[in-house]
Amino acid sequence: MKNSYPLKIVELKTTDEQIEEIQKLFQQTPQYFIKTKGHPPQGNEARKMLEEKPLGFSELAKSLGIYHQQELIGYIDLIKSFPHPNSVTIGLLMISELNQGKGWGKKSYQLLEQIISGWGNFNTIRIGILEVNSQVVPFWEKLNFQDTGKRLDFNENEISTKIMIFEKKIDLAK
Ligand SMILES: CC(C)(COP(=O)(O)OP(=O)(O)OC[C@H]1O[C@@H](n2cnc3c(N)ncnc32)[C@H](O)[C@@H]1OP(=O)(O)O)[C@@H](O)C(=O)NCCC(=O)NCCS
Repeated sequence: MKNSYPLKIVELKTTDEQIEEIQKLFQQTPQYFIKTKGHPPQGNEARKMLEEKPLGFSELAKSLGIYHQQELIGYIDLIKSFPHPNSVTIGLLMISELNQGKGWGKKSYQLLEQIISGWGNFNTIRIGILEVNSQVVPFWEKLNFQDTGKRLDFNENEISTKIMIFEKKIDLAK
């Protein structure tokens, strides 16, 4: 696919090498884990994320790496056809802390949207934002996501919060 950004989004494999690369990225992004899990990333965090797909979604759950030139700067996971056949739910879009605030999150999302649009059968992208991480709401709003008003309970480890469901309608690639 032609894209104007020096960015690549690549599907990750569950090889030891890639798990180690993602683990390093997570370790460079501790604040997200502290906020949403109550502690910095654990030693097996990347292995858990890459290997433990949500039940029943093994074929539909994808882990993707964001590369700027050769460097891994971010991570995305998503589930295709969830919660509706025409939706893609982004589980996480993360840029390493050193690379945040430089426009990479926005460019990565834009590239991801082009990719999803090219898959052909998805018209909605959904994201769940934890209320404990609500400072990222302006990021998603600037990308034209809208608050659906739906809230789900989130109780994991010592974190008890709500998931705010935001959505964006997208066009299929022409
Ligand atoms: C959220 C995240 C992906 C944003 O990526 P980023 O590279 O830092 O964001 P960008 O530099 O591309 O910012 C794009 C726009 O969003 C705005 N924005 C980004 N983070 C923001 C924040 N915390 N508060 C307010 N605005 C924010 C920027 O000001 C920028 O606005 P502009 O287009 O008007 O200049 C990144 O901070 C991150 O990885 N956080 C940890 C993981 C996380 O919380 N992911 C979201 C889970 S729902």
